[in-house]
Amino acid sequence: MPIEKNDSQLLSELVPVVEENLTRHIAEADGWQPHDLVPWDQGKNFAFMGGTDWSADQTSLSEVESLALTVGVLVADNLPAYHREIAKHLALMGPWWRWVGRWTAEENRQSIVLRNYLMVTRAVDPVALERARMDEMVRGYAMAPMHLIEMLVNSALEEKAAAVRHHNTAALGEDPLVAMIAERLAADDDLQSLFYRNLVEAALELAPDQTVQAVASRIAAFDVPSVVLPGGGSSTAVLAEAGIYDLAEQGEKVFSPLLRSWNIATRTDLGPEGDQAREELSALL
Ligand SMILES: [Fe+2]
Repeated sequence: MPIEKNDSQLLSELVPVVEENLTRHIAEADGWQPHDLVPWDQGKNFAFMGGTDWSADQTSLSEVESLALTVGVLVADNLPAYHREIAKHLALMGPWWRWVGRWTAEENRQSIVLRNYLMVTRAVDPVALERARMDEMVRGYAMAPMHLIEMLVNSALEEKAAAVRHHNTAALGEDPLVAMIAERLAADDDLQSLFYRNLVEAALELAPDQTVQAVASRIAAFDVPSVVLPGGGSSTAVLAEAGIYDLAEQGEKVFSPLLRSWNIATRTDLGPEGDQAREELSALL
C-alpha cells in the first residue's frame, strides 16, 4: 500500500535534507556582489537634481535586451508577493524558515543589480518602469492551491525556467556586461532550482506515488511567472516572440533535465497511482 503523507509530516521529515542543501547552497551561491556589475561611471543626474531626464535616444541596448532585463526586474521586484505565497507553505521551522529568507534575499539581489544597471545606463524609461513595478506589486501574485510537494516541484520548474530565460538573454551577446549579469542570474536560478530538485528527490524516497503525482500535475499546469510590461501586454507572449523564453522549448530545457534527475521513467517503487501519474506524464510530454 502506498504511504500517503500530509504536509506537516513531510515538512518535518525533510528538515535534514533542507539543512544539508541550504549549507551546500550558501557555499556555492555566495561570491558575487550586485554593485560590482554596475558601470557607475556612466551615471548622470536626472532633471530633479539638475541633470537631464530620460529620452529614448539615450538607450544603447537593443529592444530585445531591454525587454529581457525589464521582465527580469519586474519579476524580481514582485518578490514580496512570491515570498508571501512561499512562506505560507514553508514558514514552519528552522531550516525551512532560513531557506525562505535566503531565497528572498537572493531574488532581491537580482532586482538590485538589474535596476541599478538599467538606471545608471539609462537603458529603459525609469518612469515607465517604476509605474509598471507599482502596478505589478498591486496586482501581486496568487499561487494556485498546492500541497507541499507540488509547491516544491513548481519551484524547481520556475527556477529552471528563469535560468533558461537568463541564459538566452546572455546568449544574445550584444552587450558583454548584460551577458555577464544574465549569466550571473542564470547561475543563481540554476542553484535555486537544484535546491528544490534535491528536495523533490528526497520526497520521492519518502512518498514516491504522491511525488510522481505532484510532478505530473505541476508539469501539466505549469506557467512561467508573467508580468504586464510597461505600455501593456503580457511578458510571456513578448518573450516567446523574442526567443528569450520559447514555450516550444520548455519540455526539452525545463522539464526533461529535472525528470531525468528524478529518474521518473525508470523508478520501480511506484504503486498503481504513481504508475498512472507517470503514464499521464509521458503522454503529456
Ligand atoms: Fe530565482
